[in-house]
Amino acid sequence: MNFITSFIIQVVWFTQVDGGTVTCGSPVVQTPTTSRIIGGSAAKLGAWPWQVLLTEINLPVCGGAVISENVILTAAHCFEDQLSQDPKRWMATVGGIRTDVYEYTQRTYHVQKIIVHEAYNISTVENDVALLILSSNMVYSNYIRPVCLPDDNESVPVGTICYLAGWGATRGTGNPKTLNQVALPIIGDETCSRPDWYGKDFSPETSFCAGREAGGIDACTGDSGSPLVCKNGSKWTVHGLSSWGYGCAEPKWPGIYTEVSKYTKWIKQHLHKRASLFG
Ligand SMILES: *[C@@H]1O[C@H](CO)[C@@H](O)[C@H](O)[C@H]1NC(C)=O
Ligand SMILES: *[C@@H]1O[C@H](CO)[C@@H](O)[C@H](O)[C@H]1NC(C)=O
Ligand SMILES: *[C@@H]1O[C@H](CO)[C@@H](O)[C@H](O)[C@H]1NC(C)=O
Repeated sequence: MNFITSFIIQVVWFTQVDGGTVTCGSPVVQTPTTSRIIGGSAAKLGAWPWQVLLTEINLPVCGGAVISENVILTAAHCFEDQLSQDPKRWMATVGGIRTDVYEYTQRTYHVQKIIVHEAYNISTVENDVALLILSSNMVYSNYIRPVCLPDDNESVPVGTICYLAGWGATRGTGNPKTLNQVALPIIGDETCSRPDWYGKDFSPETSFCAGREAGGIDACTGDSGSPLVCKNGSKWTVHGLSSWGYGCAEPKWPGIYTEVSKYTKWIKQHLHKRASLFG
């Protein structure tokens, strides 16, 4: 009996902690499926275990998502100015929900390489996607796990409720020192392209909008690169990366997200390149 108990405990320990057996998009801490975020609520530790805080010279600047043991998916515009292109200025913190307190579950890693999409366009903000290669592999735990990547060109139906978590500005609606989350419905490309919405400034081929017409819930400064995740069955997939928007939580100006499924091929090519380097 004792043996069986300890065997079960070991199996549970290994399936939860050993990197090889961790499946993507499966947090151990469940998020209630109700509805920096403006108009959001504080996230629970472990609910978004792929969430990354990116700091530049120790200041929180952007968010990102763990997609493999040493690769983080984020937005290209985080590295827009010349100085920011130096990987030595950046650190990636995972496994925590606070920026002001170091939690026992938290780990910080150095960045070895920044890969900005070749076609990133600074004026149109098209192809706003980048990968960070860490100097060492992360150790997966209940608090540090990868999110799933969408299939090539996989789209999410309009109206699907997805989630954004981030450490961005909350404009008084929450504490920006802790991770906040917000539920955001996917908005159709036709709606976001309307002249009284974003018109031609919105690029439906490589991005999408999420939020409400009336505003009140949104991403804001500091949420850049944070993943917008949607649940399908029991798995969470990263469909968007917080990219840009006019203001924060303004009516008809919802957040615009990089459409990750348009870059799945690009991301996988880089993941395989890294894998073959080690192989
Ligand atoms: C960015 O997009 C604009 C508008 O399509 C285009 O005129 C410009 O050449 C692009 N810049 C780069 C660097 O690709
Ligand atoms: C995804 O869309 C792009 C652009 O339309 C296309 O070139 C590519 O073949 C598509 N991939 C798949 C798997 O359908
Ligand atoms: C959920 O996943 C299944 C299987 O991969 C896929 O066929 C379906 O389109 C997905 N549904 C949504 C809403 O993404």
